[in-house]
Amino acid sequence: MTRSGTIPIAVFGSGRGSNFQAILDAVRGSALPEISIALVVSNNSDAGILEIAGTHGIPALHCSRRQFPDETAFEAALLGALRSHRVEAIALAGYMKKVPASVIGAYRGRILNIHPALLPRYGGQGMYGTHVHEAVLAAGERESGATVHLVDEEYDRGAILLQRRVPVLPGDTPASLAARVLEVEHQLYPEALRRFAATMNHSS
Ligand code: GRF
Repeated sequence: MTRSGTIPIAVFGSGRGSNFQAILDAVRGSALPEISIALVVSNNSDAGILEIAGTHGIPALHCSRRQFPDETAFEAALLGALRSHRVEAIALAGYMKKVPASVIGAYRGRILNIHPALLPRYGGQGMYGTHVHEAVLAAGERESGATVHLVDEEYDRGAILLQRRVPVLPGDTPASLAARVLEVEHQLYPEALRRFAATMNHSS
């Protein structure tokens, strides 16, 4: 914890950053006073998430495996940045790369992810973006939702922290279902972080 009593987190993302924006709104708007955003990391230099961070004066780092000669140098750079910003937990928000094992080891039980379906169904390798919603619709599901879970070495398999359901409606397309799920994600992630921060405060 910082002296002001907040838990500094890093947010990792590869794309537009709407979940990051929702977390940021909650942090700045006092719905999530337990958290501060110390760093934003993206593997993609064009990512909207980096732009949002820049606009709000939050340290933003483009860190991609391609910038480094080998995996060890990449992991060292990533861990070094997390340590120098005193990051205590990580929220993945649309991060399309696997988190290196050394980072998972250093932050075990302190990395969260949001997934746009009701895990453990519709998760795992290849289940991202529109593929998730296509699979839910193809299976004829009557509901879907969003899940915040802890991250371990296996894709989408860590302990589930919080889930919320949405109905699948007649005539839904992957895009309409994605939009309904995304609206719920924006409520769910700040709420999951609030609960997670409470558990960290109790254990520190
Ligand atoms: C979200 O649907 C999230 O569940 C998934 O990736 C998407 C990220 O969207 N992991 P955004 O960048 O937060 O807008």
